[in-house]
Amino acid sequence: MTELKDKPIGIFDSGLGGLTCVAEVRRLMPNENIVYFGDTARIPYGTRSRETVLEYAKQDVAFIKKHDVKMIIAACGTVSSTVGSIPDFAGSVPFTGVVIPAAQAACAVTQNNKIGVIGTGTTIRSAAYCKAIRGIRGDMKVIGNSCNLFVSLVENGLTSDDEVVRIITERYLTDIKREGVDTLILGCTHFPIIADAISEFMGDNVKLISSGAEAAKYAMNYLAGKGLCSDRKEEGTVVYYTSDSAAMFEEGANAFLGGELHGEVIKIGIDELTDQ
Ligand code: DGL
Repeated sequence: MTELKDKPIGIFDSGLGGLTCVAEVRRLMPNENIVYFGDTARIPYGTRSRETVLEYAKQDVAFIKKHDVKMIIAACGTVSSTVGSIPDFAGSVPFTGVVIPAAQAACAVTQNNKIGVIGTGTTIRSAAYCKAIRGIRGDMKVIGNSCNLFVSLVENGLTSDDEVVRIITERYLTDIKREGVDTLILGCTHFPIIADAISEFMGDNVKLISSGAEAAKYAMNYLAGKGLCSDRKEEGTVVYYTSDSAAMFEEGANAFLGGELHGEVIKIGIDELTDQ
């Protein structure tokens, strides 16, 4: 029987964005095994209602739990904002979303107590980041904006060099910039892919917080605190599951991982999610 500490970490997202969290988990904890699920057949989540996101999140978590994981990371700002910090459907498996880790990181780095948050429409409507930040520091000013189009731009392979990305960045971020924030939470795990365009527009003095990367650090600290980090010597394995084409997943994944997949991609049917 596999010891608890040698079980994999389960990570999921609506699509490829959660791979920004996978990349950080692999950097911080290279010996951990990872099971990833990207619900690419049903992306985007961020334009859907709270009820639909909740339903999808329950199915995603149930699918990840089948892989006997020691911890679950919802590497999706939309899911994290919708389900809260400890959803009952995670059961006894330790769970983190990206909201609390990113809020904590932003509160730790801001100097002027003005934090910007960008995410999907569903994330921003939930006000989850705002509540999390104010729960840590009641005196923080939080300015949010929904940036749904960023998800499509990134999923379609556009990068910071693209003129369209720069135009949309200006459209979405002008008000937040005007407020003089010194810290900006990339509250959707897709957004780090266009961090250069965002940073160029906001200016060098504004620190960007990657919600997926912060969730990875949070998970590492949690596991270390519980004595649950794997002590295997060899590199951990990664298995990627996707609800749409494995080939398309592979094609898009490199940009998010900043390198190779180092693992197999397996397509699952939607019925594996809905018939659980
Ligand atoms: N990666 C998801 C998030 O962090 C967003 C993509 C979507 O709209 O599904 O919110």
